[in-house]
Amino acid sequence: MKKFIELNGLKLFKEKEVYFPREDSLLLAETVKVKKNSNVLDLGCGTGIIGLLAVKQKAKVLCADVNTKALKLTKKNAEENNLKIKTTESNLFSNIKEKFDFIFFNPPYVIEEGNKKDLIETAINGGKKGREIIDLFIPQIKNHLTEKGNCFLLQSDLNGIKETTKKLEKQGLKHLIIKRKRIFFEELIVFKIWF
Ligand SMILES: C[S@@+](CC[C@H](N)C(=O)[O-])C[C@H]1O[C@@H](n2cnc3c(N)ncnc32)[C@H](O)[C@@H]1O
Repeated sequence: MKKFIELNGLKLFKEKEVYFPREDSLLLAETVKVKKNSNVLDLGCGTGIIGLLAVKQKAKVLCADVNTKALKLTKKNAEENNLKIKTTESNLFSNIKEKFDFIFFNPPYVIEEGNKKDLIETAINGGKKGREIIDLFIPQIKNHLTEKGNCFLLQSDLNGIKETTKKLEKQGLKHLIIKRKRIFFEELIVFKIWF
């Protein structure tokens, strides 16, 4: 049996406690068009798919996740693809001081009440309105984006589009929906966010 899956030109190995790319990852991946030597943050990196696509475009990439197994897998996936990547364990920006030219985040956004029982739940469960992590992330964007930087945030329409736009406006951030994809009962959306 093949040990890895090829996605977007990358060999990606799996690990049962790490989120493997789905439609949301692939939609966010479509937005990865970064400049050579730019500083990129892949927040909530999972397998590292987003960060590795940016490294292939010759950017300097930091992959961060709360799940240390995701960081280990991201390093393995980088090695298997002959790519270089930095990783850090971080709860959102708790362990990140720098500013970035590009920030990519596919957060846990699934509407689910109750405790996060395991690492896969931590990857997908966004709480009562699916906004738990999104709402903690938005106020921190400004501190970590360079003046001309861009942030790409994925969510579902079920999380509320107006809630996100209002919260971004409150932070004085410009925004545009640049990707939409209907899957089953929801529409996935990618916001581009800048100063
Ligand atoms: C939906 S998965 C996305 C994984 C990968 N970026 C992708 O698109 O396939 C969300 C990821 O965010 C991580 N995560 C959840 N809460 C986080 C937090 N507070 N800070 C950092 N990472 C977090 C999870 O461990 C998981 O790897």
